[in-house]
Amino acid sequence: MLFRDRPAERLEELFDREEEVRRLLNAVNSSALTLILGMRRVGKTSVVKAATYGKLRIYIDARYFEEKRYISYGDLLEALRKELRRLLPLHKRLGELLSKIRGVSVAGVDVKFEIGRNAPSFAEILEAFDQWAREQGERLVLIIDEAQELAKLRGRTLLPPLGYAYDNLRNISMVFTGSKAGLLLRFLRLEDPHSPLFGRYFEKIELGPFSRELSVQFLTKGFEEAGVRVSRELIDRAVDELDGVVGWLAYFGLRAVKKPDSALEETLEYAARLAAAEFCNFVQYMGSQRYIHVAKVCKNGARWSEVKRYLQAVEGKPITDYEVTKLLKNLVDYGFLEKRGEIYLVPDPVLRTALQSLRC
Ligand SMILES: Nc1ncnc2c1ncn2[C@@H]1O[C@H](COP(=O)(O)OP(=O)(O)OP(=O)(O)O)[C@@H](O)[C@H]1O
Ligand SMILES: [Mg+2]
Repeated sequence: MLFRDRPAERLEELFDREEEVRRLLNAVNSSALTLILGMRRVGKTSVVKAATYGKLRIYIDARYFEEKRYISYGDLLEALRKELRRLLPLHKRLGELLSKIRGVSVAGVDVKFEIGRNAPSFAEILEAFDQWAREQGERLVLIIDEAQELAKLRGRTLLPPLGYAYDNLRNISMVFTGSKAGLLLRFLRLEDPHSPLFGRYFEKIELGPFSRELSVQFLTKGFEEAGVRVSRELIDRAVDELDGVVGWLAYFGLRAVKKPDSALEETLEYAARLAAAEFCNFVQYMGSQRYIHVAKVCKNGARWSEVKRYLQAVEGKPITDYEVTKLLKNLVDYGFLEKRGEIYLVPDPVLRTALQSLRC
């Protein structure tokens, strides 16, 4: 079925996205680093997984660290271990190569990493991946999903090994996804002369929401496949409200196959709840309720000066330009706002709705 509640795994499960897949496959063959950026639920994981299906790849899900304030090197190694346990039964040689690294032991199909001072070096792990790929005669795709979360790593820095891999490990192609584009770029410090990744070329693939027309096609095709009849009016309404974000369209589709009458309301309610929880997490993390006011005034677009006026009106006292700029920048970096020309706005239709009555 076209509608599913998990990321697509294979190309035939993807609707549209041919262009993005083509660009990604080209990049994987020719570039050391590719970034896949796009708002929540827009289909990043699906494109990466489906495009690299059957390729030599290692997939690290950093989304797992989203709720955490900090992560340790041990947490990162544990995430890697999960993936290796999946790979080792099929690839004995990878186990052999890893077991040569200090701090790594491989027992059958499981791998153990020392932690603390004896933890293995990440660069050496990447070297083992590189050698494995070379021996296989294939490039290895190292995928870090929601890679900005690795900025929370304390006690070690990842950029030097990543920079080393970029420069020296020719059989590895790194693909990082991020729904918080600003944070991801800040983490990689590609424009900072002191960064190991400074000035490195990278491919950037931005995933956007589907156009209205594609969204209608997606829903129509999905309902046809499922063998259910859903009125054109309901499809139009869903497309209006969900704005081409494929994850929400798929969620709606799945519900509508079972209960068309309440599907849209249920989808909107669920999505708004998630969006609100995520936004409130951010507000708590940043420690300022001002973010709520700013997001509210930018719901349908506002200029910097309007934001400042609004904040001052709400608080009844002056606010510095610096503070206004900082609030806006953080909201953009975390992907809650987009800047289009002079206008800041909330791109996620679901968050726009959630903001109407949001309290954190
Ligand atoms: N091109 C597509 N065709 C069909 N379904 C898709 C497509 N892209 C994504 N989906 C569906 O949309 C949902 C969200 O997709 P996915 O998890 O890949 O998005 P994401 O951008 O990684 O989301 P998140 O920000 O939550 O990580 C999934 O249920 C997936 O099956
Ligand atoms: Mg994802």
